[in-house]
Amino acid sequence: MKKMITVTILSLSLLSCKHSNPLTADDRATGQGLHETFAGHFMIGTALSEPQILGADSSARKLVKKEFNAVTPENVMKWELIHPKPESYDFVAADALANYAAENNLFLLGHTLVRHAMTPKWVFEKKDGSAVSREVLLNYMQEHIRTVAGRYQGQVDAWDVVNEALNEDGSLRESPWYTIIGDDYIERAFTLAAQTAPNTALYYNDYNLFEPAKRAGAIKLIKRLQAKGIRVDGIGIQGHYGLDYPDLDEFEQSIIEFAALGIDVVISELDITVLPFPKKENQGADISMKVKLKAELNPYTKGLPAVIERQLGKRYEELFAVLNRHQDKISRVSFWGVCDANTWRNDWPVKGRTDYPLLFDRDMKKKPFASRLAPTM
Ligand code: GLA
Repeated sequence: MKKMITVTILSLSLLSCKHSNPLTADDRATGQGLHETFAGHFMIGTALSEPQILGADSSARKLVKKEFNAVTPENVMKWELIHPKPESYDFVAADALANYAAENNLFLLGHTLVRHAMTPKWVFEKKDGSAVSREVLLNYMQEHIRTVAGRYQGQVDAWDVVNEALNEDGSLRESPWYTIIGDDYIERAFTLAAQTAPNTALYYNDYNLFEPAKRAGAIKLIKRLQAKGIRVDGIGIQGHYGLDYPDLDEFEQSIIEFAALGIDVVISELDITVLPFPKKENQGADISMKVKLKAELNPYTKGLPAVIERQLGKRYEELFAVLNRHQDKISRVSFWGVCDANTWRNDWPVKGRTDYPLLFDRDMKKKPFASRLAPTM
């Protein structure tokens, strides 16, 4: 039976009660799934791409069933894919994912209803290039949320209602949502989501939330919703990291301060790049950033040297030590992708690199250090 989340009084114990996938004899022979390792602590999730959801090659779907108990669509529920034209929706891949999650008793996070990126131009602009009015944009938002969140009511367990509304200094991003509607667009989105999906947990999701200024901005945003009596159940710390960031004390502080707001904390999109980051000042996940490929930015095309793999393992161990310590505040840790072969990190912020950011390698083999992430108590 799929877990139901009580969203009015959000209960962390309910959120963290786990789905259990029965193991086959084959599975037992190859060891425990990751989600079993963390049972009783938090769910372990991953993101699935459209080919992994719909494709003839079912290897990723099989691996997910064994190793994970939560899934997020990497792209197929984003506005530009699910609602490409004003009157036209494409639910094929999202429906397939919802069915796969239901059949395999996997927690399903809907990602994402309102975002500045990957939203088609027609949403914000008239044919002549001028901006639509506040009223028109609010209508589009309402129709989109009612249609998409309405369709998956009872199937999607939680929604990322608003994604990436903050600048690095914690102020509100000047996205078309903000400039056309005004700063109440976030309230509108959460209110609509709460009306449409009353039994679904509602999250705010962003990157670089370990940075003190951005953390403070997120806290202000959540408190503002709470002060107006608008339901927000949790916060997604995306977790697109590297070998030398984030500062783990700041990361831990964010978990503590977010939980103190009385909301659930999830790590929603974890990966750790081993590649050099071309621009230090913007390590988050701003997908508009594009840097030209150069050999020195792509050093491990022939395999990951053992010394770097050790650094990656150590980094994951340090990060999971923090997560395990705060398991009472965290309901889910989701990776952004299944294995190194198809991570977005191979293409961002430099297209065509060879990265190694996940726990499963290019052959979908679990990396040896994964066993060292387990909770000790
Ligand atoms: C952010 C978004 C995701 C995705 C990644 C890059 O983290 O939340 O939807 O676009 O960037 O794949």
